[in-house]
Amino acid sequence: MNNSPVVQAESLNFSYPDGVRALENISFQVGKGETVGVIGPNGAGKSTLLLHLNGILRGEGTVRIMGMEVARGNMRRIRQAVGLVFQDPEDQLFTPSVYDDVAFGPLNMRIPLSEVDLRVKRALAMVGMEGYEARSAHHLSVGEKKKVSLATVLALEPEIIALDEPTSNLDPGSREEFIGCLKKLSATKIIATHDLELVLAVCGRVMLLSGGRIVADGGVRELLANRALMEAHRLRVPLSLERKRH
Ligand SMILES: Nc1ncnc2c1ncn2[C@@H]1O[C@H](COP(=O)(O)OP(=O)(O)OP(=O)(O)O)[C@@H](O)[C@H]1O
Ligand SMILES: [Mg+2]
Repeated sequence: MNNSPVVQAESLNFSYPDGVRALENISFQVGKGETVGVIGPNGAGKSTLLLHLNGILRGEGTVRIMGMEVARGNMRRIRQAVGLVFQDPEDQLFTPSVYDDVAFGPLNMRIPLSEVDLRVKRALAMVGMEGYEARSAHHLSVGEKKKVSLATVLALEPEIIALDEPTSNLDPGSREEFIGCLKKLSATKIIATHDLELVLAVCGRVMLLSGGRIVADGGVRELLANRALMEAHRLRVPLSLERKRH
């Protein structure tokens, strides 16, 4: 960790109302400017964990964002500090036009209109979706929706960006552009994904979640190359690491 932690989770436990235990005793810290991958099999708890970072879900234990506890009273500041890109873009987009969807957050933060307009343009350009302002987000392809979802969060210019499966449904060109865009962002990033090449490309550290627990937390290359560990949790050593060995 290169700096003071901006995310601190301590003894986090969470069960869904139907009794499914999704997080068990999760503790970790993320330093300012770090890019951390969160990997693990389907149902491991990755999305559930990300939903705790800005208080959409609250379990037992504590989450602190830049020293502020995720708790009632702090929610406005927490939501400004943590931008969350949902796994399903349908959860992110709800206004009649792409422009309004991207402008919604900054408008809510009471940013002046001219600045909002700049932010919308900048965010859409970053994800390669300029020119789509007047389109209805509901009539876009899934990959286009993913990109607009990311733009809605980029427009908030948050200190911390949590991304849930950001590259799913992106075509290879868009995926590469997206990786380039992520590399340019100075924000602290936490990325839940099955795209292990993405983790290799952008993350300095990775946490492996399985059955609601953190089973490993460490350097990306070392962890992703550990075949026994990866296969024990339904994961595979990424091809680019395999090839280097031959
Ligand atoms: N709304 C819900 N109600 C009840 N159980 C849920 C709900 N959402 C998720 N779960 C359960 O919680 C556990 C963790 O789910 P979660 O969505 O966090 O996994 P994930 O690691 O993100 O998986 P994936 O790789 O499929 O996205 C799973 O057992 C899942 O079935
Ligand atoms: Mg998920």
